[in-house]
Amino acid sequence: MIPLHRIYFIIVLFTLILHGRIGSSDNTKLHEAEVRALKEIGKKIGKKDWNFNKDPCSGEGNWVDTSFTTKEFESNITCDCSYPPPNSSCHVIRIALKSQNLSGIVPPEFSKLRHLKVLDLSRNSLTGTIPKEWASMRLEDLSFMGNRLSGPFPKVLTRLTTLRNLSLEGNQFSGPIPPEIAKLTHLEKLHLPSNAFTGPLTEKLGLLKNITDMRLSDNNFTGPVPNFIGNWTRIVKLQMHGCGLDGPIPSSISTLTSLSDLRISDLGGKPSSFPPLSNLKSIKSLILRRCNLNGPIPKYIGDMDKLKTLDLSFNLLSGEIPSSFENMKKADFIYLTGNKLTGGVPKYFVEINKNVDVSYNNFTDESSIPNNGECNRVTSNLVESFATRNKSQKGSTCFLQRIPCVHPKKDHIYKLYINCGGGEVKVDKGKIYQADDEPKGASMFFTSADKHWALSSTGNFMDNDDDADDYTVQNTSRLSVNSSSLSFGLYRTARVSPLSLTYYGLCLGNGNYTVNLHFAEIIFTDDNTLYSLGKRLFDIYVQDQLVMKNFNIQEAARGSGKPVTKSFLVNVTDHTLKIGLRWAGKGTTGIPIRGVYGPMISAISVEPNFKPPVYYDVKAIIIKVGLPVAAATLLLFIIVGVLWKKRHDKNAIDKELRGLDLQTGTFTLRQIKAATDNFDVTKKIGEGGFGSVYKGELPEGKLIAVKQLSAKSRQGNREFVNEIGMISALQHPNLVKLYGCCVEGNQLILVYEYLENNCLSRALFGMFFF
Ligand SMILES: *[C@@H]1O[C@H](CO)[C@@H](O)[C@H](O)[C@H]1NC(C)=O
Ligand SMILES: *[C@@H]1O[C@H](CO)[C@@H](O)[C@H](O)[C@H]1NC(C)=O
Ligand SMILES: *[C@@H]1O[C@H](CO)[C@@H](O)[C@H](O)[C@H]1NC(C)=O
Ligand SMILES: *[C@@H]1O[C@H](CO)[C@@H](O)[C@H](O)[C@H]1NC(C)=O
Ligand SMILES: *[C@@H]1O[C@H](CO)[C@@H](O)[C@H](O)[C@H]1NC(C)=O
Ligand SMILES: *[C@@H]1O[C@H](CO)[C@@H](O)[C@H](O)[C@H]1NC(C)=O
Ligand SMILES: *[C@@H]1O[C@H](CO)[C@@H](O)[C@H](O)[C@H]1NC(C)=O
Ligand SMILES: *[C@@H]1O[C@H](CO)[C@@H](O)[C@H](O)[C@H]1NC(C)=O
Ligand SMILES: *[C@@H]1O[C@H](CO)[C@@H](O)[C@H](O)[C@H]1NC(C)=O
Ligand SMILES: *[C@@H]1O[C@H](CO)[C@@H](O)[C@H](O)[C@H]1NC(C)=O
Ligand SMILES: *[C@@H]1O[C@H](CO)[C@@H](O)[C@H](O)[C@H]1NC(C)=O
Ligand SMILES: *[C@@H]1O[C@H](CO)[C@@H](O)[C@H](O)[C@H]1NC(C)=O
Repeated sequence: MIPLHRIYFIIVLFTLILHGRIGSSDNTKLHEAEVRALKEIGKKIGKKDWNFNKDPCSGEGNWVDTSFTTKEFESNITCDCSYPPPNSSCHVIRIALKSQNLSGIVPPEFSKLRHLKVLDLSRNSLTGTIPKEWASMRLEDLSFMGNRLSGPFPKVLTRLTTLRNLSLEGNQFSGPIPPEIAKLTHLEKLHLPSNAFTGPLTEKLGLLKNITDMRLSDNNFTGPVPNFIGNWTRIVKLQMHGCGLDGPIPSSISTLTSLSDLRISDLGGKPSSFPPLSNLKSIKSLILRRCNLNGPIPKYIGDMDKLKTLDLSFNLLSGEIPSSFENMKKADFIYLTGNKLTGGVPKYFVEINKNVDVSYNNFTDESSIPNNGECNRVTSNLVESFATRNKSQKGSTCFLQRIPCVHPKKDHIYKLYINCGGGEVKVDKGKIYQADDEPKGASMFFTSADKHWALSSTGNFMDNDDDADDYTVQNTSRLSVNSSSLSFGLYRTARVSPLSLTYYGLCLGNGNYTVNLHFAEIIFTDDNTLYSLGKRLFDIYVQDQLVMKNFNIQEAARGSGKPVTKSFLVNVTDHTLKIGLRWAGKGTTGIPIRGVYGPMISAISVEPNFKPPVYYDVKAIIIKVGLPVAAATLLLFIIVGVLWKKRHDKNAIDKELRGLDLQTGTFTLRQIKAATDNFDVTKKIGEGGFGSVYKGELPEGKLIAVKQLSAKSRQGNREFVNEIGMISALQHPNLVKLYGCCVEGNQLILVYEYLENNCLSRALFGMFFF
């Protein structure tokens, strides 16, 4: 039996806890000195909604804002009112002002909050550095993640020996990490990503024995990955993306058995073999991307039974995929992209309902490549292979080898326009940017309907707690392009990719091209908002050559929302153009929320630096209509060709045409002018490269289509000869009937029966040319 007075006590305690006023009487207020400090602080950083008519510990007056629903936002003062008499007043122990649009320098007055333990000022725009007055503070958890602090590593922080968590991620600090960091012996979490820190990592970091979460990504450190990381035996998370360090990963890493999240990417230095990770039994995320790893993938990787994400992409790994990979049933994402793996693609990669990407390898066992619908275009050249998710079914995979040109030579193209991440856009006549808004998924391969371009994308956005990432983005209001301008449609949308995005131009006629890559930053801004704290950097490859390192759209365009075009001269030699965009671990990853980073592109245009050849596929025509017809065509070619040479002699041509048994009649120019109201524009029903087509009516009421070839062009002549020969010799129900022709002066005119709408234009425009 619990005594009654105890139950009463518990009820009172609960009531007090609910009011956030443990151990205090109702009129206990925040210590006066601290109220004054908060006033100073609020004024300096622009926290205008604090209401000092209410006690900061009362829970009223905007001291605790309950309106925010996501963890990136918070405005919250927490007091401890349990201090006993004589000083029985409340003290601020925790301040969280996250994403509150604060600006100005960091106020020294925070140091007057002598009981403050937790201070989270993440995602604001504070400037300057950390004031020396802070040396007396007893902070345990301090975050300046996503601000604009600058200067060298603030030495004052090394005096806050109570610190257990420290984040300076996403600021503009520079210079080396001072050896004094070793004084922070209680440090558990040290986040330094996305600054401009330099120099070799100080050995003293090895003394931080209690570290559990160390992040060094996106800095400019030098030297090798230090051996002393082996001293961090309690470490659970270690992240080093694009931090400037060189490989190899030291073998001391084998002692870090608590690691569950290991992310290392973009190491410099020489190739080295896979680091010894067999003791890392708790690992859930293993990312060793672009670390110059060579040799085989160790068998034990497949036996890491907690593994959710495995990314070994863009290394030099060779040999076969270990059979143990069959055990990785729990893995959600497997990226083996961009290695030199040989042998076969394991069957279970296709069967498991997961995202597996084995693209860009050197698989030699063709029979292992599943034949899986539209994704599959197996050729004998197994240099590249792609895996992609079946669009209509979450998770399943299919594979594809080097993309062959499926078009015959006559269908080669010389121009290509793609509106990345958006719908079709007509910029002007003949310049239609094709839609690229369809595919979604962690790893995917997509070929355009006309088979003239394709794209492959690798990776999922990390840490955004979102299973359905967006791979296309749009924002019209951020764009400083006039919404009525032709290019508005190109820049309002973009395609983004977490790791690697490759566009292919397929079946291009060989030759020199100008490739224009169009960009506009439509996520990050340069205003005062949270979005202005983000920075996007990525690398650009053209035909597998690195052409832009650490490309920053905003910098190149001198602002956000502004278009910028990068042009490259490309020599297409095997009908394929390859444009690669890669994230190399640079730029912010947590603004405005976690998981915003990676390449972004708005549009691509490709134009030849030469006059594309005009290709008449005589062979195909011959095959189509049969040899007798072909022979007749050839004959007519010659006859009409000869005729044509004499075209200035109107009478002669006329006479000779009449003499031919063309199974057609001839018309005079006058008859045709009468039928078409003298080629009246209102009668024009079409226009092609060869000339115009008019609708006309003969005196007996018969409707005709009059095709007026542009007589000046030589092509026109050839077409004329070609067409008249062809059609006059043909008797085929599906063909539009040729009534006759007219050759007078410099006019070359064909007269057809008139068919309604589409039928006619299709017959006249798609049939014999192009
Ligand atoms: C304010 O902070 C306290 C202490 O961390 C927490 O318990 C409370 O849920 C927070 N309130 C809001 C609205 O975030
Ligand atoms: C009470 O507050 C005064 C002034 O803030 C301080 O000097 C003193 O040490 C405090 N006493 C206790 C027991 O906290
Ligand atoms: C953020 O603060 C700046 C001044 O520092 C102000 O100009 C801007 O309007 C504020 N933005 C928002 C969204 O409150
Ligand atoms: C440090 O960060 C961890 C993880 O965010 C958190 O659980 C812990 O409470 C923090 N430590 C302190 C002293 O606030
Ligand atoms: C390291 O962490 C352990 C366990 O949390 C703790 O007992 C120990 O006091 C810590 N050491 C330091 C120097 O903070
Ligand atoms: C690693 O820890 C040992 C003690 O366990 C210490 O003697 C050594 O100096 C540390 N190494 C570095 C590089 O800090
Ligand atoms: C990083 O270091 C390299 C040379 O070590 C230098 O060229 C580059 O400008 C540095 N970048 C930054 C952002 O400091
Ligand atoms: C791919 O494999 C073939 C045969 O094993 C080999 O000749 C070729 O060099 C390999 N290519 C690459 C890029 O490793
Ligand atoms: C994708 O999955 C759906 C549903 O299982 C199936 O009907 C379709 O044929 C698959 N497509 C390919 C290309 O495998
Ligand atoms: C688009 O930009 C406007 C202006 O910067 C912003 O208010 C809006 O939230 C943005 N929309 C999205 C979806 O990011
Ligand atoms: C491509 O351009 C170069 C000069 O940039 C020229 O020398 C070369 O002949 C061109 N090749 C073709 C196929 O047009
Ligand atoms: C393009 O490639 C062809 C074939 O490799 C070569 O003859 C030509 O010189 C190249 N042109 C340029 C501009 O590199």
